[in-house]
Amino acid sequence: MKIDAKKLIAAALKAREGSVSPYSKFKVGAALLTADGEVIGGANVESASYGLTCCAERIALFKALTEGKKKFIAVAVVARWDGGAMPCGACRQLLAEYAPDAKVFVADTADLQTIKRFTVGGLLPGAFRLVS
Ligand code: THU
Repeated sequence: MKIDAKKLIAAALKAREGSVSPYSKFKVGAALLTADGEVIGGANVESASYGLTCCAERIALFKALTEGKKKFIAVAVVARWDGGAMPCGACRQLLAEYAPDAKVFVADTADLQTIKRFTVGGLLPGAFRLVS
């Protein structure tokens, strides 16, 4: 399937509106593209017990997985950060487990035309896995 990175970035921007980030005020949006062409969005959710905070990428992934989606071909992440905000280590682990072949698109909300492109495998080589 042809992947429209701009469209997926736009979906992540829309999902970012759902960010619940009263502590950091740092809004992040993510959008996952399934092999069936569906797009599942997510945004970061923070807790007063800071460590319980969940990133946008994982919210999107958990939503998709619990809706029965199994195959992902791309994920987009947007935040207002120069050059775009990269997925954190925890999100890389989860993506490596459940979306190992996905492309990763990253953009800054201040410059959505500039899309950085990565792969999940490239962002976490040699990922820990217990199933093949
Ligand atoms: N955050 C994400 O949503 N994704 C990342 O990959 C990095 C960080 C969120 C978590 C927290 O709500 C805020 O950004 C500041 O760390």
